[in-house]
Amino acid sequence: MTVLTQLPDIAMPLPTDLRGFTLAPSPQSSRLLQLTVSHEVVAAFLEAVSEWPVQALEYKSMLRFRVAKVLDELCDNTLQPVLINTLVDRATGGLQVTAEGLDRVEQAEEMVKFATAVAHLMGRSNFDAMSGQYYARFVVKNVDDSDSYLRQPHRVMELHNDGTFVEQDTDYVLMMKLDEQHMEGGNSLLLHLDDWSDLERFYAHPMARREMRWTAPPSKKVSRDVHHAVFDVDIEGRPIMAYIDQFVQPKDFEEGNWLADLSESLESSPAIVSLPNPVGSFLLINNHFWLHGRDRFTPQPQLRRELMRQRGYFTHARTLRHPCQA
Ligand SMILES: [Fe+2]
Repeated sequence: MTVLTQLPDIAMPLPTDLRGFTLAPSPQSSRLLQLTVSHEVVAAFLEAVSEWPVQALEYKSMLRFRVAKVLDELCDNTLQPVLINTLVDRATGGLQVTAEGLDRVEQAEEMVKFATAVAHLMGRSNFDAMSGQYYARFVVKNVDDSDSYLRQPHRVMELHNDGTFVEQDTDYVLMMKLDEQHMEGGNSLLLHLDDWSDLERFYAHPMARREMRWTAPPSKKVSRDVHHAVFDVDIEGRPIMAYIDQFVQPKDFEEGNWLADLSESLESSPAIVSLPNPVGSFLLINNHFWLHGRDRFTPQPQLRRELMRQRGYFTHARTLRHPCQA
């Protein structure tokens, strides 16, 4: 039995004891919590939702919320408040979720169902234009011919926020590992804004609030540019970011060089958290005050990694002052 301490900006009452899962700080960062769902709950969940293949969740959006309810009930309704509160808690805002017994690529469909259930206890996953579904699965191999760094293994994917070139709110990002073979390196990289020592310097600069143009390469299947500043404030006036180095289009010398300084500062921050994300586990972060990226891999001919992502908006609590969905 785990007793939670009260979070400062609590969105809803927390249970005094947790059923069916445990919660603990991760070894890499006290801001990132490890949520482990027990073998019994995972098995009971998969049994209870076995009548619905992932295709049913794709075709009927309502079922994503139904599988969420099934999972929460198996945890005596103690999972939902923890997820809702943690995702908007500025002090943490991030989880690494592990479902015991769900750790082989043959269980990829079950992994998608489980992650869908967790996400839909506190949000709703947006349509992903790259896949045409509410989630996207994609493979990283040794050789790549894509038009962004998403699938290129031998270099760092720099720290960024997701959803910078779409018009929907991207409150959360869920990144799950479905498969991994012949992999050396490639840790997930995370940076909490409040741990970045240069936050104040960049946030205080007039350029922080200048509207910039953001555009996506063809593979993203997003045709319209969007305009927004790199920084904004959350519902309580604290800094939040919407930034990605590859897709911002600075209009002049001044913008370009301020962005390049920003990028260098982020990439060299000693507060970057580097952690492995094992097969079957996923990272679930507040996309407004956590940046994410990926470390480089060692080249290996048989290297294969498969990932699943979901990105969406919060349905119970909020970080943004003016959510689109409100
Ligand atoms: Fe990303």
